[in-house]
Amino acid sequence: MNAAAEQAQLLAGQLSAASVVRAKEPLARRTTLRVGGPADIYVEPASEEDLALTLRFAAEQALPFFVLGRGSNLLIRDGGVRGTVICLTQPNFARIEVEELRLLCGAGAKLKDIANEAKRSSIAGLEFLEGIPGCVGGALRMNAGAYGGAMFEVVDSLRFMDYAGAVREVPVERVQANYRGCPFFKTHIALGAALKGRPGERMAIEKRMAECSQKRWSSQPKAPSAGCAFKNPKEIPAGRLVEELQLKGARVGGAMVSLEHGNFIVTDNTATARDVLELMELIKQRAQAERGIALETEVQIIGEDV
Ligand code: EPU
Repeated sequence: MNAAAEQAQLLAGQLSAASVVRAKEPLARRTTLRVGGPADIYVEPASEEDLALTLRFAAEQALPFFVLGRGSNLLIRDGGVRGTVICLTQPNFARIEVEELRLLCGAGAKLKDIANEAKRSSIAGLEFLEGIPGCVGGALRMNAGAYGGAMFEVVDSLRFMDYAGAVREVPVERVQANYRGCPFFKTHIALGAALKGRPGERMAIEKRMAECSQKRWSSQPKAPSAGCAFKNPKEIPAGRLVEELQLKGARVGGAMVSLEHGNFIVTDNTATARDVLELMELIKQRAQAERGIALETEVQIIGEDV
């Protein structure tokens, strides 16, 4: 048995039977970009207790760990991820409970499901979550946003685990977030959040959700991608800049700049992470050379090259 398989077996023995532990788990299909190599050890803990045990195991074995959400803003390099990849998708982490105007959501709950649940309960203000292809944990980590709304604007309180396994809940005011980021969740694991809305009228909520959805489908590609590749620089939206640089349709291997939206890189089934990285580099170089703009990558990049 190789080291990863041995470690996976050892960890599985420490967790409850309901937890999933696998060695050399392919990750490409767990990302929306559909590229990248495997995780040495892949874990879906069944409970917060098993998550804490997983963190302890990683510390004892000196293994790095990474918490994977829905993989919608993520580029995994072709050599895959060393150490442990933790995914909070089991039911214990994915609940959505309505409590008056708040929705108590687990880290693994999908934003789309939250928007739908809010609609059913006539809670307004969460419509923009409809089209963001993520889950709560990733959306907190990235302060995900769309159509004028951003995650931290609708969070009331946060539940998280520190790397020693201790769980805490704090009001949102205690945690700083900025455009497309929340530094706190670089060193803490999001377990969930209470989101707050306001009283609404179901028909109006449905209409706003349909508008968000329509705008998205008319301006963003349907092919596999990781959403926007770059943060919008202050000078100009990245998508428009890429269009002005006439890079729409530019290709490296199986990766292509979307014809629909210049800030999206889409992949076909021959694409590798290297193709995507090279294409991003080409865009950055052209933006710098021709417009003097330093584009900043928005997609999170993890793992090793082959
Ligand atoms: N534009 C072009 N050409 C293009 C793309 C866009 O000229 O190819 C122009 C548009 O016409 C518009 C402007 O650029 O005037 C901005 O475009 P858009 O409205 O599509 O929004 P965006 O700034 O490109 C942001 C978020 C998206 C989010 C949309 C909708 C960032 C980096 N991107 O895109 O988020 O879905 O607004 O609210 O902030 C993501 O984070 O992954 C993401 C997709």
